Amino acid sequence: MWLGGHPGFPRTDYQPKPSNVITVPHPHFYRDEFGSSNYEENAINSAQAIEDAIIFEGPESVSAVIGEPVSQPLGGILPHEAYWPLVREICDKYGVLLIFDEVITGFGRLGEWFGANLVKTNPDIMSFAKGITSGYFPLGGTTSTKKVANAFVGGPEKVWSHMYTYSAHPAGAAAALANLEIIEKNDLVQNAKIRGLQISEKLLEMKEKYEIIGDVRGVGLIQGVEFVEDRVTKKHFDSSLGLNKLLTDELRKRGVWIRVPAFILPIAPPLTINADQTEELCRIIDESIATVNKKMGK
Ligand SMILES: Cc1ncc(COP(=O)(O)O)c(C=O)c1O
Repeated sequence: MWLGGHPGFPRTDYQPKPSNVITVPHPHFYRDEFGSSNYEENAINSAQAIEDAIIFEGPESVSAVIGEPVSQPLGGILPHEAYWPLVREICDKYGVLLIFDEVITGFGRLGEWFGANLVKTNPDIMSFAKGITSGYFPLGGTTSTKKVANAFVGGPEKVWSHMYTYSAHPAGAAAALANLEIIEKNDLVQNAKIRGLQISEKLLEMKEKYEIIGDVRGVGLIQGVEFVEDRVTKKHFDSSLGLNKLLTDELRKRGVWIRVPAFILPIAPPLTINADQTEELCRIIDESIATVNKKMGK
């Protein structure tokens, strides 16, 4: 929880902060922390923040940089295409590993097999889970470059020693293989890309109509809407107004179950969603936001 962060579950709920974790600003142009004048500049400044932190801490003391190629908790934040290649360069310059957390983004959700494909950057290590079995069986894992893997080869003292109750569970592997076959056979990665474009288009229309929408964003089947009280200051509604609860209820009344944390509506339907279902989903989201927009006095 300290590596990332989530508007519904703030880091401060998980004190104390681990002493060896350094955090830097998110490459998030809508909420840019650097005074950047455009999307690309935000990416360059955000990457620079990583380099500055590595230099400040001392490169020899930094093992790795970890991040999600596209961040889900804030609703599909895709950094400008310059960001991850720059981070890769910085990591290489200082001998720091790059880790992609692809627990959410991996196995097709972004309309590419991995976030790494989308952002055209190879990490040294990648963690994955959810999408590999589509949740039909719990399975998570880590993969790495040969160079990293070879550090654990060459005798018992080099073996990766850790203990899990269910490591190498064959049912998980079988579920994963069956699931991957279904994804491939039905071209669900491409489906995620197309349905994502369909959702993006509808979200842009909603942004035109509803004052409470500050930003819409996303790629593939990670899309999001951010709600604000004021579009100019980008101030969020006071949590006591319960916008997230109102919206959750309106969606549920119409048959759509989405957990709305704080001020973000995250939209991440199954990779199997078809065109008609996407249309219906967007219609229900539109109606629900319309109702909440009115209730919030807009
Ligand atoms: C981005 C991200 N990373 C890591 C995790 C943890 O994954 P697991 O529960 O499979 O260990 C989650 C879980 O929700 C996640 O969303």
